Amino acid sequence: GHSNINAKLVLLGDMGAGKSSLVLRFVKGQFLEFQESTIGAAFFSQTLAVNDATVKFEIWDTAGQERYHSLAPMYYRGAAAAIIVYDMTNAGSFARAKKWVQELQKQGNPNMVMALAGNKVDLEEKRSVSAEEARSYAEENGLFFMETSAKTATNVNDIFYEIAKRLPRA
Ligand code: GTP
Ligand code: MG
Repeated sequence: GHSNINAKLVLLGDMGAGKSSLVLRFVKGQFLEFQESTIGAAFFSQTLAVNDATVKFEIWDTAGQERYHSLAPMYYRGAAAAIIVYDMTNAGSFARAKKWVQELQKQGNPNMVMALAGNKVDLEEKRSVSAEEARSYAEENGLFFMETSAKTATNVNDIFYEIAKRLPRA
């Protein structure tokens, strides 16, 4: 039958990777060239219909600045899903994403649906992380992988939709 699912989702990743921009694109269909850096965390919700269910995402958009790192467990604790975001023009942000994956594997909900988002794919000419490298890392670690652009909307709805499909049904 049809089910209604409430799913807590957290976005994690380096500052500037584009977490807030992905959420703004998904929730409001907007993009800001000068998106402000998040202080602490921000909350949004958005509902998505998949084949057999209506999923209400309760989204925690965390702050990537290092000084907020210690707050992160409050947001990923009890989360059904996480999107770990890196900027594909910035190899350091990919390294940071791997650290978040490790932390979630140690401390997070073991049934969490995890997605790896290589964001800013519109900046192909500045790419510094290959899709092959990220895809094989994701496969080895049980995440699914997509390259996204909050600017052009590439794969933004799709990544939330793929998460919704993978959530356990009540
Ligand atoms: P913190 O809140 O500091 O952790 O950063 P964040 O991960 O939320 O990044 P944010 O969404 O603030 O984006 C940082 C900058 O990158 C902003 O200037 C955005 O406009 C830009 N940006 C985000 N996503 C994209 C994208 O897909 N393409 C391009 N070209 N720029 C992007
Ligand atoms: Mg932000």
